Amino acid sequence: MGTPRGERRWGVSRRAFFGAGLRLGAGLVLGGVSGLLRSPLALAQGRDAIVPGKERMIVRSLRYLNLEMPVHLLDSVITPVELFYVRNHVAYPSVNLAEWRLVVSGEVEKPLELTYDELQRREAASVTNTLECAGNGRAFHRPRVPGLQWVRGAVGNATFSGPRLADLLRRAGLKAGARHVAFNGLDEPPGKVPDFIRSIPLEKALHPDTLLATHMNGARLSIYHGFPVRALVAGWLGAASVKWLTEIRVLRDEFDGNFMKPAYRMPSRPVAPGAEVSADATEVITALPVKSIIARPSDGAHLKLAPLRIVGAAWAGEQSIVRVDISTDGGSSWQTAGLSGHAAPYAWRLWERVWQPPGPGYYAILSRATDSAGRTQPVVAAWNASGYLWNAVDQVGVHVEA
Ligand code: MTE
Repeated sequence: MGTPRGERRWGVSRRAFFGAGLRLGAGLVLGGVSGLLRSPLALAQGRDAIVPGKERMIVRSLRYLNLEMPVHLLDSVITPVELFYVRNHVAYPSVNLAEWRLVVSGEVEKPLELTYDELQRREAASVTNTLECAGNGRAFHRPRVPGLQWVRGAVGNATFSGPRLADLLRRAGLKAGARHVAFNGLDEPPGKVPDFIRSIPLEKALHPDTLLATHMNGARLSIYHGFPVRALVAGWLGAASVKWLTEIRVLRDEFDGNFMKPAYRMPSRPVAPGAEVSADATEVITALPVKSIIARPSDGAHLKLAPLRIVGAAWAGEQSIVRVDISTDGGSSWQTAGLSGHAAPYAWRLWERVWQPPGPGYYAILSRATDSAGRTQPVVAAWNASGYLWNAVDQVGVHVEA
């Protein structure tokens, strides 16, 4: 923050907006692995390290910290913070709350600068939202694509609470040219790595479900998830929900930076697997598609011949799940699963079906969700060079033994 590199990225001098009194990010932790423990137990379990508070997670990378939920542990509508995935592009910062400020600037009549206490005093709202990384399922794309090889667990469902972004924007007063709202966080990229800045259209920013979340599942946000405050852009790809917020900037145009283009975009029309697509033939990813995952049984499980509970979760971004179908014969026939809980716009539904295997053998079990907009999971996911938005029908294979 406040570096010449950062200033260029916003296209104008930050110092013009941030008064001399604003000091941010004292004591940044570079590398983001401080506090991680290497233990004989972790090594014996074939893991590189255990991360305090996240001991049961799959470590996708330590530098920088990226953790995936093992989906066989998915057992409740609300994902406990200890099982909630972590996606960091660079080192997570350490935050000095006494010095931290949230600035609202750009196309506003009256720029704001709030302390944590001031933010906490604003009226808060709560939204239960399924947050999913656009790269979840990247490992399934063929041909393979580079990037973190997430399988199913870069997703979680939590209740986020905090002031509405619209409240702050209205207090700052929007100018006539205001069209987009950009978020910047305290994480500081090394060297030439671009800063993680993303924008959303004004309409979504003003939506009452777009929050400045200070709490997750009723507790103060943890540093992994964006303490002291993160954006919560309900129903949209996880990347929209920028963590460790320090700057909210109202813009005339969509933010022009690496994480808006070329990153987090899909080809504007379907492309053949392996095809190269120029950034101009892509469009920015917004709301999530319809998707389901099978939490249990696990792929490759060996099970005794007995009634089998097939369970999982399904979500659909800004839409609601209306149906999940299960096949136990590789997709020849489908039966409807039972949905639990009530339908909430951005929250996943857990589903379940009990199945009696007809005899010993190997069975391919599939799940396929349909949402309130009539979208159904495809059999073949749209291949793209970045491996985004994998949402094909989910599949596990099980060995049933006599
Ligand atoms: N915000 C900042 N400042 N830096 C980041 O690297 N990662 C984004 C988003 N917000 C990121 C960020 C991405 S890609 C995702 S998927 C979500 O945070 C993940 O949120 P989580 O780590 O709380 O699960």
